[in-house]
Amino acid sequence: MQLIRGNYVWIFRTRAVVTDRHFHHRAVLVAAALIVAYTSETTRAGGLPSTNTILAAEVALAQSDDECVVCHTNHTPGIVNQYLASDHYSNATTCADCHLVEQTIGGAVQHPESEFYVLPRSSSAMCETCHRTQVEQFNLSRHALPSYVAYAGSEGLSAEHQAIYASIPEGGFNPEAMIARNAIHKLEGPEFTRFSCESCHDVGKPNLDGSIGDCTACHIRHEFSLEQARKPETCNNCHIGPDHPQWEIYVESSHGIAYSTMGDSWNWEAEDGTLTTADFPAPTCATCHFSGFGGAPTTHDVGDRLGWYLAAPITTARPNFAENRLRMQNVCRACHSDGFIEEFYVSADAATESVNTFVRFSQAVWAQLKEANLVTAAPFDEPIDYVYYELWHHFGRTAKSGVWMQGADYAQWHGIYEIMQDCAELVEMANAKFEAAGLEPLVMPEGFPGIDAARAYLAAQES
Ligand code: HEC
Ligand code: HEC
Ligand code: HEC
Ligand code: HEC
Ligand code: HEC
Ligand code: HEC
Ligand code: HEC
Ligand code: HEC
Repeated sequence: MQLIRGNYVWIFRTRAVVTDRHFHHRAVLVAAALIVAYTSETTRAGGLPSTNTILAAEVALAQSDDECVVCHTNHTPGIVNQYLASDHYSNATTCADCHLVEQTIGGAVQHPESEFYVLPRSSSAMCETCHRTQVEQFNLSRHALPSYVAYAGSEGLSAEHQAIYASIPEGGFNPEAMIARNAIHKLEGPEFTRFSCESCHDVGKPNLDGSIGDCTACHIRHEFSLEQARKPETCNNCHIGPDHPQWEIYVESSHGIAYSTMGDSWNWEAEDGTLTTADFPAPTCATCHFSGFGGAPTTHDVGDRLGWYLAAPITTARPNFAENRLRMQNVCRACHSDGFIEEFYVSADAATESVNTFVRFSQAVWAQLKEANLVTAAPFDEPIDYVYYELWHHFGRTAKSGVWMQGADYAQWHGIYEIMQDCAELVEMANAKFEAAGLEPLVMPEGFPGIDAARAYLAAQES
């Protein structure tokens, strides 16, 4: 390959800058020509995009003097086609900008048949050169190090990473959840968890070059399309299943129904920070948690708009509770009235407190078992461990998410109903143990397993 000689990286960088400018002007001309071609083609072909996309790629490619693009058309045509369809291409961001690095960078490998080095797993450090704000916000969110620490623990983190972790406002919480989860991770073993915990939680794993996280968890390479990131299917890669069914809940909510029945006509590619109700008449996950919308600025720190720790066994307030809630309410406010939002938040707070009461009840029963030495210290070694755990971890969380994101079926039948069933089961299992040990069984207040009985039981315990 003749492309690069001598001081490879330096020469390439210089070349890249020079070619970029030509590249940019040319891309604009090509794009203009293509719009004409595309429009007439679409009309004729009845809107089928595939030939046009290929045509676009071919025309753009014929004009290209970026050697990476030209050669990779033969070796990785899929990547090149996606790249040519991206805003990166039309804004003169090159393959080299995201992949070309010095040999000394962690994770760098020598490019096949060349003397320059590339980072095959282009990292958030590469994005950071142009998207500093997004990377900084991401690093301050629970999608970053807390996601990774959730299964790996914090022991292996470098001093620098420890400091970043400590600086995340809502980075703490939930030692009990962590211990239980990490125990499951260990019990299952690394052969398996590579395909389970890691697959979702590595969104925040430290990279070989020291940067944090995987931006492609939400921005599929190589289009990096805003439309894709804004669609809720992006989140359902991870926010799904019995312990965090936000996707299923969204699908059954009024918002999700608006999306699935009318989303085709929404303005998905509107520039960030410009979104209004004219573009999005109902919100997606991204609208409520990320997008600049209503009075809330765009953020990659998803904790910014959350008041509660809903994933915890007992939900407590986050630091900055009031400010965070206000930011979320400013999103709602673009479409709902103040009174509607206020009423919704007051009711959802009360429902959250109900779930807390049931979980506290289960903890009180558990404490009595422990006191009598009737449960082992080992995690998940007997059926009662699973009942006690799923009560808050699956059903408590599901109920709370169902409430906050308007999924009535999840709030009800996959949520609070299952919680009551687990309360009944937990007490029956506990009493079998008390009786087997020759101890008095627990006596439940009238109305058990209802909310009033749970409250009465806790009140009696406290007095
Ligand atoms: C002369 C052809 C050619 C040129 C020019 C070229 N590449 Fe490649 N590149 C290849 C081939 C062949 C592979 C190996 C593909 C495979 O494994 O299927 C490759 C692999 C890669 C990989 C993956 C490496 C790995 O170990 O997984 C990256 C990233 C990459 N190229 C980026 C670039 C960048 C950036 C440029 C421009 C600076 C570039 N390439 C220029 C042919 C080329
Ligand atoms: C905006 C940044 C960006 C641009 C521009 C970009 N890439 Fe990538 N590329 C990435 C990211 C991110 C990954 C995925 C890294 C990972 O696996 O976590 C990736 C992965 C790859 C891979 C390895 C993965 C695979 O599927 O084989 C190759 C090869 C590659 N890119 C080549 C290219 C080529 C060639 C171009 C230009 C046509 C290009 N990239 C442009 C960011 C970029
Ligand atoms: C060399 C600079 C550069 C690098 C490196 C870079 N980008 Fe970009 N990115 C841009 C520019 C320029 C735009 C277009 C901005 C605009 O439209 O306002 C853009 C746009 C985007 C968009 C929005 C796309 C759209 O449709 O408007 C996303 C998402 C994105 N980049 C993600 C990434 C990710 C993830 C990485 C790292 C893997 C990355 N970028 C690396 C310059 C870069
Ligand atoms: C399908 C993707 C997925 C899988 C698989 C998964 N998680 Fe999670 N995990 C999540 C999501 C999403 C949340 C956030 C839930 C919420 O906030 O409602 C989460 C939350 C957590 C939390 C609570 C937050 C915290 O940091 O304290 C822990 C701990 C955790 N996961 C550990 C694990 C472990 C250990 C495994 C494997 C045994 C695992 N997870 C498997 C997606 C996943
Ligand atoms: C958990 C999902 C998720 C992850 C991970 C993620 N993003 Fe995004 N990103 C989004 C969403 C959603 C949007 C659209 C926001 C909007 O509507 O304007 C977005 C938009 C963007 C944009 C367009 C400009 C903007 O701010 O809206 C850029 C650039 C971007 N992301 C870069 C990154 C980089 C760099 C990383 C890695 C550090 C990253 N993203 C990780 C979800 C994510
Ligand atoms: C690759 C997996 C993955 C994807 C994709 C993903 N998330 Fe997450 N998300 C997680 C994990 C893991 C957590 C829990 C982190 C923790 O608390 O340890 C999480 C937590 C969250 C939280 C709670 C953060 C907090 O401070 O407690 C919100 C809100 C969230 N995600 C929204 C989204 C949205 C919206 C999208 C889509 C645009 C998305 N996520 C895409 C894995 C993912
Ligand atoms: C109408 C706005 C809205 C939509 C749409 C929405 N959410 Fe939420 N989400 C909320 C609110 C409100 C909360 C709770 C806020 C609080 O704690 O103050 C929340 C909480 C969460 C949490 C729990 C964080 C924790 O404390 O553990 C996660 C995770 C989450 N959302 C992810 C998603 C995902 C994924 C989607 C799409 C499938 C989605 N959300 C759709 C408004 C929304
Ligand atoms: C982009 C506009 C938009 C945003 C932002 C938005 N909503 Fe909605 N919301 C709607 C639409 C449209 C409906 C469907 C109304 C209907 O069913 O007629 C709806 C329905 C609802 C409903 C169900 C009402 C009913 O009568 O069935 C609730 C509750 C709700 N939204 C709460 C919220 C909350 C809380 C937020 C902020 C966290 C929020 N919404 C943000 C547009 C929005």
